Amino acid sequence: MATLDSSQLWTPPEPLHHPDSPLSKAFQQPLMLGLFLPLQTGGWSQSTLPRGTDWSYAYNAKLTKQAEALGFDVVFGLSQWLPKGGFGGEAHYRENFLDPFVSTVALAAETKRILLLGTIHVLYGPWHPMHLARFLATADHISQGRFGANIVTGYAENEPRMFGATRLDHDSRYDRSAEFIRICNALWSGEDNLTYQGEYYALEDAYVSPRPLYGRPVLASASGSPAGFQYAARYSDIVFVSSPAGEKLADALPKLPAHVAAVKDAATAQQRQVRVIINPTIIVRPTREEALAYYQSIMDHADLGSIRNFYARHAAGDSVSWLEHSAKGRAVGGHLHIIGSPEEVAEQLRQLHATGIDGIQITFYDYEPELAYFGESVIPLLEQAGLRLPLDATN
Ligand SMILES: Cc1cc2nc3c(=O)[nH]c(=O)nc-3n(C[C@H](O)[C@H](O)[C@H](O)COP(=O)(O)O)c2cc1C
Repeated sequence: MATLDSSQLWTPPEPLHHPDSPLSKAFQQPLMLGLFLPLQTGGWSQSTLPRGTDWSYAYNAKLTKQAEALGFDVVFGLSQWLPKGGFGGEAHYRENFLDPFVSTVALAAETKRILLLGTIHVLYGPWHPMHLARFLATADHISQGRFGANIVTGYAENEPRMFGATRLDHDSRYDRSAEFIRICNALWSGEDNLTYQGEYYALEDAYVSPRPLYGRPVLASASGSPAGFQYAARYSDIVFVSSPAGEKLADALPKLPAHVAAVKDAATAQQRQVRVIINPTIIVRPTREEALAYYQSIMDHADLGSIRNFYARHAAGDSVSWLEHSAKGRAVGGHLHIIGSPEEVAEQLRQLHATGIDGIQITFYDYEPELAYFGESVIPLLEQAGLRLPLDATN
């Protein structure tokens, strides 16, 4: 079999080209709803105000089933590699960290409809495209087309050293990840045994089975940079963006349209489409005063020890996505803060959607009761506003 180069690699059909794929169904929603799973101690918020949020698998499985019953489209787990104690502080922030790939695959057995996204650092260690292509094809079958990989390149300075490597420069990481995923795509297309010689990887008579159910598994990435947007435009179905102007919605709203258009236009130039999702922390209470009082008590319990350590990591990293965020805001967490009564929260989400944002990946401070209240009080308002189709309309 001839040795292929990167321009000759086969590509499978995309899940969006199958109208019945779980991804196509989720994309029918004007505003996709995702839950950011707290698979790590402290979830997303660095505050010691007491709460029930827990990193255990059982708690996350319960949340996932709760989210699915409320009509959520996606659950998502992030991945970091942290030294002993995580970010420390009084909160022992992220001291325990369940692997999101393993956890979200396990959640397939507990659910029926919701998409399951787990993050993978493809450049760390001796990961080879063969591993990922077979693992994801398997996850695709276990989940019946609902599993998706959030492919990240690793912005942190210390993480690659844990794997005995040094970090590639920012844009080379995207080049290498692109080659990795192009090879996975070729393997998923299953045209023949693959013999390939590229810049970073080589394969000889390589093959993986089974074929994914809808061409390939769902692919996501998370970016704020031009190189990251180019990568997303070519390979991702979903792209996570952070706020280009910090966590205050009023500051972010004017800047988001151009930011979102940049990645969507890049996808259009590739004759593709991507959905853009952002991660707000939502604080919703019956009245604005109650929501603000709760917000204030989370801030008053800010865990400054772990916030300092979190910022030290980001200062040593080279992500352009987080630069605008305030240290104190980390007590609440999330890339945007959406606070208020149910009506105010629904209105803020309408404004966010009007910027071109296609979905929200929500973090809560105290997940279980706050997810329940969001479901009961905000989702009906989103339906009334035409931002959410009732469940049976998408099935
Ligand atoms: C919602 C969201 C989730 C992310 N999750 C992870 C993650 O789990 N692990 C990780 O290493 N980076 C994660 N990142 C960071 C991205 O991988 C990326 O480094 C960052 O967005 C900067 O991208 P850029 O270098 O293209 O600007 C996430 C980013 C966003 C916006």
